Amino acid sequence: MKQFAPSCERNKQPILVVLSEILNTRGVILEVGSGSGQHAVHFARGLPHMEWQPSDVAENLPSISAWRAEAGLANLREPSILDLFAGDWPVIEAQAVVCINTIHIVSWQAVESLFAGAGRILAPGGIMYVYGPYRYADRPLEPSNEDFDRWLKARDSSSGVRLFEDVNRLAGQHGLMLAGDRAMPANNRSLWWIKSQQARVRP
Ligand SMILES: C[S@@+](CC[C@H](N)C(=O)[O-])C[C@H]1O[C@@H](n2cnc3c(N)ncnc32)[C@H](O)[C@@H]1O
Repeated sequence: MKQFAPSCERNKQPILVVLSEILNTRGVILEVGSGSGQHAVHFARGLPHMEWQPSDVAENLPSISAWRAEAGLANLREPSILDLFAGDWPVIEAQAVVCINTIHIVSWQAVESLFAGAGRILAPGGIMYVYGPYRYADRPLEPSNEDFDRWLKARDSSSGVRLFEDVNRLAGQHGLMLAGDRAMPANNRSLWWIKSQQARVRP
């Protein structure tokens, strides 16, 4: 049942360093696109003050459950189904939404659904965090990410490395204000936004 992604082993600690810095209040973290479940275990263990809610499309849940069962962490919940093409989200309020290496895999419509959902469920002051490769309007994409983008589009023309400015504009439409943009290993970025303290934005 347990899937294993070598990339998770490489990036989990650098990501945890950022999450530890920016997620310093108590509350629920909803992870969208949890994949194998390796990240969920590592982050729940590293952030014991937070309650980690993994989620993904149904076919990935058995692996996440297997990692969870082995870890035996009190703050790691059973994974829930969250399909960005379906309407239902498994939590109605969260302190943070975390989405790693998924925005370039799914279509733009699903990215819109991700940010709409985050804008809906995040408490004021809550954090939306994403990790992965991004393009920037003012500089060329790194050659490794150009190759990756070509590979993604050959596999699924609706996927691809996203333009930071598009994602940031979308975040703003859902009441999320850019709070950080940090270079990460292997030409990835950590991006995070804070939910405005104003009344909730309804799509
Ligand atoms: C490249 S994997 C990343 C997984 C994990 N976050 C990681 O970093 O290893 C992309 C993830 O997006 C998920 N995904 C694809 N389509 C989705 C959808 N419509 N709704 C939610 N998740 C989706 C996949 O199941 C997969 O877990």
